[in-house]
Amino acid sequence: MYWTKHHVLVCTASHCAQKGANDVIGRLRLDILRKGLDTEILVNTCGTIDLCDVGPNVVVYPDNVIYSGVTVKDLPEIVAHLNGGPVVERLRVGPGSAAEEARRGFYAEAVLPAPERPAGNFEALVSAHGFDAAWIAEQQRRGFVARKLGAGGEETITVTKKARGRYGV
Ligand code: FES
Repeated sequence: MYWTKHHVLVCTASHCAQKGANDVIGRLRLDILRKGLDTEILVNTCGTIDLCDVGPNVVVYPDNVIYSGVTVKDLPEIVAHLNGGPVVERLRVGPGSAAEEARRGFYAEAVLPAPERPAGNFEALVSAHGFDAAWIAEQQRRGFVARKLGAGGEETITVTKKARGRYGV
C-alpha cells in the first residue's frame, strides 16, 4: 500500500480466534502504537487463509511472509521484523516449512493410486501421518478433501483439485 511500509493481516476467523488471534492483534496494534510505527504499519483483521490448523496466522505484505502459531509472546520479534529487522524464520510457514511439508507428504501419498479412496483407508493414512479426525474435518471445511457416499453406500474421501494444486501432487 502506497502509504505504509508494511500491511499486516491477522486472521481472526474461527480457528485462529479460538487459539488467541484476537489477543495477538490487540497486542500487536498496541505495540506498534507505542513504538510510534502506526504511520508506517497498517494492521487489519482478515478471514481464513486456509492454514487453520497452524494458526493464529499473520500475513505480512509486501514481504510475502506468513507467520503461523503466533502468540503474544512472539510479538516482540515480529514487531522487530516490521521495524526493519530480520524475518522470524522459526514462525514462518510456506513452501518448504515443516507444516507445509507435512501436508504435502500426506497429500502426495493420499492421491496414489487415485485421489479417491474409502474413508476408513483415508483415515488410517491420516493417522499414519500424525494428523487426526479434527484435521480431516478442518481440511474438509477448507475444501481440500471431500466426502461422498459411493453407489454401494460406502463412504469415500477425495483429495480435491484445490489440494492437488496447492501441494503439486
Ligand atoms: S481460521 Fe485462520 S487460517 Fe483459517
